[in-house]
Amino acid sequence: MFIKDLKNYKSQEVILRGWIYNFRSSGSIMFLQLRDGTGFVQGILEKETLKQVQGDNRGEEKWNEAQKIVLETSIELTGTVTEHPKHPGEFELQVKDFKIYQIPSEEYPISKKEHGPEFLLDNRHLWLRSSHQWAIQKVRDTLIRACYEWMHEHNFIKFDSPILTPAACEGTTTLFGVEYFDLGKAYLSQSGQLYLEAAIASLGRVFDFGPVFRAEKSKTRRHLTEFWMMDAEAAFVEHEENLKIQEELISFMVGKVLAENKVELEILERDLKPLENIKPPFYRITHSDAVKKLRELGSDIGEMDDLGADDETILTKQYDKPIFVEKYPAEVKAFYMKRDPQNPKYCLNADLLAPEGYGEIIGGSQREDDYETLVKRIKEHKLPMEAFEWYLDLRKFGSVPHSGFGFGLERIVAWVCGLQHIRETIPFPRMINRITP
Ligand code: 4AD
Ligand code: MG
Repeated sequence: MFIKDLKNYKSQEVILRGWIYNFRSSGSIMFLQLRDGTGFVQGILEKETLKQVQGDNRGEEKWNEAQKIVLETSIELTGTVTEHPKHPGEFELQVKDFKIYQIPSEEYPISKKEHGPEFLLDNRHLWLRSSHQWAIQKVRDTLIRACYEWMHEHNFIKFDSPILTPAACEGTTTLFGVEYFDLGKAYLSQSGQLYLEAAIASLGRVFDFGPVFRAEKSKTRRHLTEFWMMDAEAAFVEHEENLKIQEELISFMVGKVLAENKVELEILERDLKPLENIKPPFYRITHSDAVKKLRELGSDIGEMDDLGADDETILTKQYDKPIFVEKYPAEVKAFYMKRDPQNPKYCLNADLLAPEGYGEIIGGSQREDDYETLVKRIKEHKLPMEAFEWYLDLRKFGSVPHSGFGFGLERIVAWVCGLQHIRETIPFPRMINRITP
């Protein structure tokens, strides 16, 4: 039996198992706040009830045992489900019996008082139990499920890209290297994209969803060294359609959270208005126009510069929906991006920026599909040609126009939950200065 199902068991006897996350006593009555992973409930334990149900002696003994309960005691409660007298629709448990699994012998280190972020991160293995962290992981779970659901509904097949790879996808300076037997250095994947490009000629539309690694020295609220990415790739999809897929997917994912995570969003005190607004079409602005706008807003960004984190924050505060910033200067983007035939200094790419100051959640582009051009790009970017031979093969045997994108799950969770820092969105964050617990 789980707390979330109590509403179906009014007036019936049930057994719940979980942890005491708060409690108080007043005379011969105790209020036990129980959490079981599915929700939270108040158990009411009365000395008189224990005596009535269990007899005077045993009831007294049980009551004395209950006085030993402290925070995070693991316990089984047996009792009758009643509706809260003042809050209809809310349920409580009138406890008749309990069985203690363990009473902590030390004081639980996380209390109701304010703790600093470093203390909480040091105690991440315990912090995960708090209602905020619980709510974040529930939202994360919904976003993952919604993503799989939408992708499968739209003919994308899950395809697992490797984690150990021989070369870079996004740029050589941000790779974690590992010794790989007699074969020399291997690298932890930054994105499964290149492998997905191989898969489209077999499966048409594919996606992967897994951990990726970036040895970026960025110490910002948006960067992790290990994070979860969903890469999607589709044959015969060009730039415009690529953006449509993204806005449909993101809108669906946010809609699912609004539908399924009311309790969680309330715990997180998330303002729902901006989320309710997330429906296609999203805004589109070219990089050139974004630069103009940013300069008006006081940024010193150059015409050919990538958008910095501050630029993204300023820009997205101007809009009430996500924004695609399209057609970046080719010189600041990856080698595989197809150039805009109308102005080859720019790419057929877009970053999707989340509103409310959140910034980039997706990077995507149409891919260069011409063999000779791609060879030229690999040379221009000074990448090792041998490592890309198999990738070039894809342009030799039935090359087609194709596009794809990748989202950072933690960035989306942070935005949807309304969190300041991305580190709370992943169970055990890895950052340049943190690898434990
Ligand atoms: O923009 P990025 O680097 O794009 C790629 O890796 C492409 N190969 C994806 C593709 O086309 N299949 O990364 C994609 C997304 C970013 O938009 C951002 O949301 C997230 O991954 N991201 C990070 N999230 C957390 N910490 C980091 N260090 C991140 N770097 C990128
Ligand atoms: Mg990017």
